[in-house]
Amino acid sequence: MQFKSRLIHAGPDRDPYTGASGVPVYLASTFDQRAAARGGFDYTRSGNPTREALEQTMADLESGALALAFASGMAAESSTFLLFSPGDHLVVSNGVYGGTYRVLTQLFSRLGLESTFVDSTDRQAVRQALRPETRGIFVESPSNPLLEITDLPFIAELARERGILSIVDNTFCTPFLQRPLELGFDIVVHSATKFLNGHSDVLAGLAIARERKTGERLRFIQNAFGAVLGVQDCWLLLRGLKTLAIRMEAAQAGAQQLARRLAALPEVRRVFYPGLEGHPGADVHNSQASGPGAVLSFELESSALTKTFLQCVNLPLVSVSLGGVESILSHPATMSHASMPAEERKKRGISDALVRLSVGLEDPEDLWRDLRQALGTRF
Ligand SMILES: Cc1ncc(COP(=O)(O)O)c(C=O)c1O
Repeated sequence: MQFKSRLIHAGPDRDPYTGASGVPVYLASTFDQRAAARGGFDYTRSGNPTREALEQTMADLESGALALAFASGMAAESSTFLLFSPGDHLVVSNGVYGGTYRVLTQLFSRLGLESTFVDSTDRQAVRQALRPETRGIFVESPSNPLLEITDLPFIAELARERGILSIVDNTFCTPFLQRPLELGFDIVVHSATKFLNGHSDVLAGLAIARERKTGERLRFIQNAFGAVLGVQDCWLLLRGLKTLAIRMEAAQAGAQQLARRLAALPEVRRVFYPGLEGHPGADVHNSQASGPGAVLSFELESSALTKTFLQCVNLPLVSVSLGGVESILSHPATMSHASMPAEERKKRGISDALVRLSVGLEDPEDLWRDLRQALGTRF
């Protein structure tokens, strides 16, 4: 089936017992084990039919063997990092979400898992950061918040050569635009809070493994560590997924228009968007994804203008997060990347005048008018 049909019919697309148009919310923590023949469920931390429906759907959509649902994107990432042991070393993309940086540098570092952060757009830098004790490479492409592009097949092949795990955060693109397991990655992680759910009403995470044996290791951690996704949220996420393709297409079309128009404004110093001609990673991105996505960043001419701009916009939420039906404007320096020390932000090119826009489903003309009025009166 084509991807759009898989969004509607992947996994169990109806309730096997009643024929209902979807798997219902199984609000049960435990199951009578004499009925185990009906699916083998015993306790919801270990497995639940609603969560299983979501996990089977996501395994299909990402072309993986197994998917596991977690209580948040960070729970999915942290559970994935539990695959590693004290003394292991990770090579991590500079452009990861601020929370990924925080959990690695402030939590997993205390447990003996060391990370080296590199510019993963630079193939040589990634290769040089590998050590004998390196056990994994973790990247995000496009990166957060500067939309830098990492060559995913290169990273997957490098990890395969070394016999180590390749992991990618695919939150920005979703499997609608980019399917890293098909490019050779071992594990994809998601903040499903974003485009996958799409309605800014659920916090959720996913980890999907290309091979069953990696997936079984993740499943053991999911059950042992216990950061599973609640069943009502599994159901909401299943519902949100049905419209992923049309939401992504519409939001991406809006982002393309706004990126082009913003790039022509004198108040805007730079626009970061892989859909713009001249973006340094556009060719690599186009070779591994089917579209530039619906998130863009831009740097205004001063921090003062940025402050007024954030005060004056009306349509977008001014907040953290992305991927909702409503547009969301965020200020990485004080929001998503506030947990990163100022000098680290500066090294990565995240200035105080940078804003990130997740384009929603409003009419792009209304968004454009609103952005223009918030930028001032020079029109
Ligand atoms: C790219 C990316 N990865 C991971 C996360 C963490 O996900 P969550 O907030 O669902 O824990 C986020 C959250 O903003 C994100 O943007």
